[in-house]
Amino acid sequence: MKFFTSTTETIPAAAEIPKHIAVIMDGNGRWARKRFLPRIAGHKRGVETVRDLVKFCAKLKVEYLTLFAFSSENWRRPAEEVSFLMGLFMEALKREVVKLHQNNIKLVIIGDRSRFDAQLLEQIRDSEELTANNTGLTLTIAANYGGRWDTLQAVNKMQVAAPQLAGFYREEHLRPYLSMSYAPEPDLFIRTGGERRISNFLLWQLAYTELYFTDTLWPDFNAAAFELAIESYQQRERRFGRTSEQLAEPNLT
Ligand code: IPE
Ligand code: IPE
Ligand code: MG
Repeated sequence: MKFFTSTTETIPAAAEIPKHIAVIMDGNGRWARKRFLPRIAGHKRGVETVRDLVKFCAKLKVEYLTLFAFSSENWRRPAEEVSFLMGLFMEALKREVVKLHQNNIKLVIIGDRSRFDAQLLEQIRDSEELTANNTGLTLTIAANYGGRWDTLQAVNKMQVAAPQLAGFYREEHLRPYLSMSYAPEPDLFIRTGGERRISNFLLWQLAYTELYFTDTLWPDFNAAAFELAIESYQQRERRFGRTSEQLAEPNLT
């Protein structure tokens, strides 16, 4: 067995369509405020953007699309907004899952489910079950997700599974227990809404991801805005620690 010191093993060709795109969908509240609407109107409009983006990614043959819908810190928002967001999530799952299934899309929800009510838990389970064998785009929704939570829950599971290795754990021992063990690490990270931060999204997995920030607010993030992000990605040189000269060598491993 070959051991790697980093999880970023192979260099994907950046000129291609990214295999895995992870998105922080930010700016719903400001989009609404600009129109003198309540913040929740922005969240509602944001769901339309999700629908369009999923379609577009499926068309482009992106393999994994991961969307940050609710962070472990978002509980700090006013109670009415939190409960509206939970309701919206539930409603969207219910309404969209059959369409997702018809389009061969596999839906996975990651995050800490311990604070979800029984109804939402059931809807999540049903949606995942229905689409489990689909082979098209894998759409991951991060709900009550935090990158630190993810890493810690993985560490705890790893310790239980392999206590004899304590003190000698490597990256590949942890990897199977991370929430997104089924997917390659994101190639492209997009954050809308103008902030330049990760906000406790996928911390482990973003180690070598290309980062793209745009001021466009999430409800305005249309196909043209998405294409700009892809174009920006395609101009990057992904080196994973190597030099430009090395990348030009044939048979680089
Ligand atoms: C992102 O939009 C959606 C969630 C965090 C659920 P925001 O609600 O954070 O919108 P802004 O940042 O206040 O504009
Ligand atoms: C990050 O957005 C989380 C989601 C988009 C779900 P926030 O708008 O909550 O991020 P911060 O707290 O301002 O960084
Ligand atoms: Mg925000």
